[in-house]
Amino acid sequence: MSSILLPEFCLVLLIGASGSGKTTFAGKHFKPTEIVSSDWARGRVADDENSLEATPDAFELVQTLIEIRMRRRMLTVVDATNVRAEDRAKLTAIAKRWDALCAAIVIDPGEDICLDRNKLRPDRQFGPHVVRNQRSALRKGLGGLKREGFREIHQLMSRAAIDDAVITRQK
Ligand code: CTP
Repeated sequence: MSSILLPEFCLVLLIGASGSGKTTFAGKHFKPTEIVSSDWARGRVADDENSLEATPDAFELVQTLIEIRMRRRMLTVVDATNVRAEDRAKLTAIAKRWDALCAAIVIDPGEDICLDRNKLRPDRQFGPHVVRNQRSALRKGLGGLKREGFREIHQLMSRAAIDDAVITRQK
């Protein structure tokens, strides 16, 4: 069982391919108000959670929300794929400005599970190469997470590890 200890104030990045279960995991362990999601932000700026064209504007909203929540010292969880180091760097830079600890929770139940789940989702009908590319970027970045400034790094690399994880908040 993975036991994840988080301080009361930190920035948590979920890192995982589409279909890995980030949104499900966030909903299980965090308050809805603590979660900043890229899908939610796309919906807010474009009326369409899947609009790829809206991604830059959606991330402006994501970053603004993180900035404000860090200033207010509120624990914040980012539900986005976050598989590329350059995307993560923009978010961790905000946390560092506010002296927030950065935590990474990597969620990877494996390619087959991600693909099978996406097959059942009418809004995720992209080719299998999307998940493959995301997982390969994810794996390439794992070794560098510490250097990127993540103080807490948790890798949940199977369905059982994801399902059994327990998160405790430090008082
Ligand atoms: N799902 C599931 N069992 C789990 C986790 C997820 O059946 N233990 C299903 C969800 O109901 C959903 C799909 O798998 O239909 C994708 O889960 P989600 O949590 O939305 O995955 P994300 O990683 O957030 O996917 P995306 O990045 O595409 O939003």
